[in-house]
Amino acid sequence: MKCIVFIIVFLNTFSNTFAWGFNYDCTDISILDTTFTSNNQISVTVHGPQRVSNPGHVPCCLQQGPMIIGNYIFYKSDPEYPIATIWEGRKWVNGYSEDNSVDPNDCIYESQTVCDEVYEGAINYTRVDNFDPSLFPDPGHFVTLSMDIYAHCEFDSSYKGRTFCYQGCTINHTADYSYP
Ligand SMILES: *[C@@H]1O[C@H](CO)[C@@H](O)[C@H](O)[C@H]1NC(C)=O
Ligand SMILES: *[C@@H]1O[C@H](CO)[C@@H](O)[C@H](O)[C@H]1NC(C)=O
Repeated sequence: MKCIVFIIVFLNTFSNTFAWGFNYDCTDISILDTTFTSNNQISVTVHGPQRVSNPGHVPCCLQQGPMIIGNYIFYKSDPEYPIATIWEGRKWVNGYSEDNSVDPNDCIYESQTVCDEVYEGAINYTRVDNFDPSLFPDPGHFVTLSMDIYAHCEFDSSYKGRTFCYQGCTINHTADYSYP
């Protein structure tokens, strides 16, 4: 009995380990702009790839723009020593979620996904987050923003769900820390 419980727990852990994957491909991922404002906010515009429609293949559609952002930090010279962390781990962004991402299983049945009807976020996605200025250097210095950006992601609802992104990489963007 103990042995069976062990195997179930082990398989559980094992399958979750493989529930995430991505290609290290930055073909069409970039940060277009960062702006600090005096009310302690940072606005960043993240660019992601165009939508892709590939009927009859798996995946049959890929959605546009950035879809997941992870490990959003600021550092001065070494990313190992961030001065501020906006968030750790990965987060769906740009209106995406597991529920509206392309599911490769829906590409192989009679009732195929219609790519024109799939949710699409912005190609140039702008988000605004609060930061704590006490963690930053004096205005006029440079800081580097770093985030893991993922695009062309799909969510496979079988096997308890697996997210895979066909593009993804860590982007660093140095910005002048000054504001009006
Ligand atoms: C995104 O921004 C880039 C650079 O500013 C621009 O060339 C491109 O046309 C924009 N794309 C869209 C879909 O707005
Ligand atoms: C961003 O910085 C990290 C850490 O230095 C590095 O591993 C990564 O390759 C950089 N990303 C790009 C796109 O240059």
